[in-house]
This record gives sequence, C-alpha cells and structure tokens, in this order.
Amino acid sequence: MKLVIGIVRPEKTNDVLEALYRAEIRGVSISRIQGHGGELDRVETYRGTQVKMGLEDKVRFEVAVSDDAVERTIEAICAAARTGEVGDGKVFVHDLAEAVRIRTGERDVNAVSPTT
Ligand SMILES: Nc1ncnc2c1ncn2[C@@H]1O[C@H](COP(=O)(O)OP(=O)(O)OP(=O)(O)O)[C@@H](O)[C@H]1O
Ligand SMILES: [Mg+2]
Repeated sequence: MKLVIGIVRPEKTNDVLEALYRAEIRGVSISRIQGHGGELDRVETYRGTQVKMGLEDKVRFEVAVSDDAVERTIEAICAAARTGEVGDGKVFVHDLAEAVRIRTGERDVNAVSPTT
C-alpha cells in the first residue's frame, strides 16, 4: 500500500475529487494548508534587498491505495490539477505500513478498498 499525497491549487479541488472518483478511488482526506514552492520574492528594505518566503494557500489530498491503484491515483491528480503555470503543486508517495477499517477490523488492502 501507498499513501499518495497531492498538494494542489484550491480551485482544483473539485476537479481532483472528480478525477479520483472516475479512477475508482473512493476514500480521500483533504485539508487546507499553506505552502511554499521555492520561489523567492525580493523585498527592498532600507538595509538592502532581502528575500521573503511567501506562503500560498493549497489543498492537500491524502489517498491510501493498494499498489495496483498507485499509478492511476497519481495520474488522476496530475491531470486534474495541471494548468501548466508555476505553482500547480506536487505529488509525494509514501510507503504505507498498515491500515485498519475500524467498523469491521479489516486490515491493509481490504481496509483501503471500498465496501459494497
Ligand atoms: N519540496 C517540497 N516539500 C514539501 N512541500 C512542497 C515542496 N515543494 C512544493 N511543496 C508544496 O507544493 C506547493 C506547490 O508547490 P509548487 O507547485 O510551487 O512547486 P514547484 O516545485 O515550485 O513547482 P513549479 O515550478 O511548478 O511552481 C507548495 O506551496 C508546497 O505546499
Ligand atoms: Mg512553485
């Protein structure tokens, strides 16, 4: 299993949700975050030029998936979130050691697959 993290523009939230749904990915967590993508704003001060790390609003998706669903999860997020302009975001993939569905006690791949 993997935990796929997608950090995207807030205005792309619904597009990413729809793309995940179409890719048959069901469980997802979303949070509003602030982030910095590396661009430095130069700020003039009376002592000279300084740089400021500006923070931008982003939305963070977390999707726990079985290994066979990793690629289509990444592709769904990227295709839905891309504008081609700087600041489109990033996808990170972690190994995921365990998952438990609390209601049933199901573990691991059974816990991250939808119930019917
Ligand atoms: N190395 C990183 N570690 C953690 N979070 C990051 C990292 N890089 C980017 N992010 C997150 O992703 C958001 C969007 O980053 P952004 O798309 O600007 O990345 P980038 O590498 O500058 O690419 P681009 O050149 O397309 O702007 C950031 O605001 C931050 O939340
Ligand atoms: Mg950037």
